[in-house]
Amino acid sequence: MVESYRTIPLNFRIQDEASMQRASQAFYELMSRRRTVREFSSRDVPESVLENALMTAGAAPSGANLQPWHFVVVKDATIKDRIREAAEIEERELYENRASEEWLGAIAPLGTDANKPFLEEAPALIAVFLKRFTVDESGDRHKTYYPSESVGLATGFLIAALHNAGLATLTHTPSPMKFLRDILERPSTERPFLLLVCGYPVDDATVPDIERHSLQEISTFI
Ligand SMILES: Cc1cc2nc3c(=O)[nH]c(=O)nc-3n(C[C@H](O)[C@H](O)[C@H](O)COP(=O)(O)O)c2cc1C
Repeated sequence: MVESYRTIPLNFRIQDEASMQRASQAFYELMSRRRTVREFSSRDVPESVLENALMTAGAAPSGANLQPWHFVVVKDATIKDRIREAAEIEERELYENRASEEWLGAIAPLGTDANKPFLEEAPALIAVFLKRFTVDESGDRHKTYYPSESVGLATGFLIAALHNAGLATLTHTPSPMKFLRDILERPSTERPFLLLVCGYPVDDATVPDIERHSLQEISTFI
C-alpha cells in the first residue's frame, strides 16, 4: 500500500426506499425545469450564492483527484465588455465563414446569431478553465488525467447548483475561445472550457420550444 494512503470513515446514510423515490422525483422535477436562458436582466446576483455553487463544482469527481479546473467569475463591466467584443468577432467569423451548413442547420431552431448582448447585460460570467497540467512548487509540470471529463462533470455540478439556488445560466462556447485566456490572464497550462453566463432572466424571457428524448431512447437496462 502507498505510504501516503490514509482513510476516513465514509459519511453515507442509507435511506428507505420511499425517501429515495421522493428525493429522486423531486430532483428530476427541479432539474427538468432548467432551461438555457439567453435574455438576462442586469439584476445583481448574491456573491455568496456564486461561492456556494463554485464549491459544489469543486466537489465533483476528477481523474486522480487532480481537480483540473479553475473558475473566473467576471462581474467587472469593462472586462465583460471586452469579452463581448472578442466573442462577437469570433462568432461573426463563425456564422459567416467557418460554420458548416450542417452546423448552421443544427443551431437554427435555437434562433441564435453572432450578437451576444447577454455577455454585457448578465451580472456574472463564469469562465471555466481546464488545467492541462498542474505545476508544483518547484515549477515542474504534471499532466492531468481525463481533464475534459472532469471539467465537464464539475461544470454540470455548477449548472445544477446555480439552478437549484434560483439562478439562470447560459452555457456559451464562443469558438475559438482563446481570447478568454488572454483577457482573464490565465496561464498557458489552462485551456478555456466554456463560459457560463449567470443571472436572472428578463421578465418576458422566452426559450426555444424543444423536446427531450424519452427514457427509453436515452437508456438501456440489461
Ligand atoms: C457544451 C455546450 C455548448 C453550448 N454552447 C452554446 C452557445 O455557444 N450558445 C448558445 O446559445 N447555447 C449554447 N448551448 C446551449 C444549448 O443550445 C442548450 O443546452 C440546448 O439547446 C438545450 O436547451 P436547454 O439547455 O434549454 O435544455 C451549449 C450547450 C452545451 C452543453
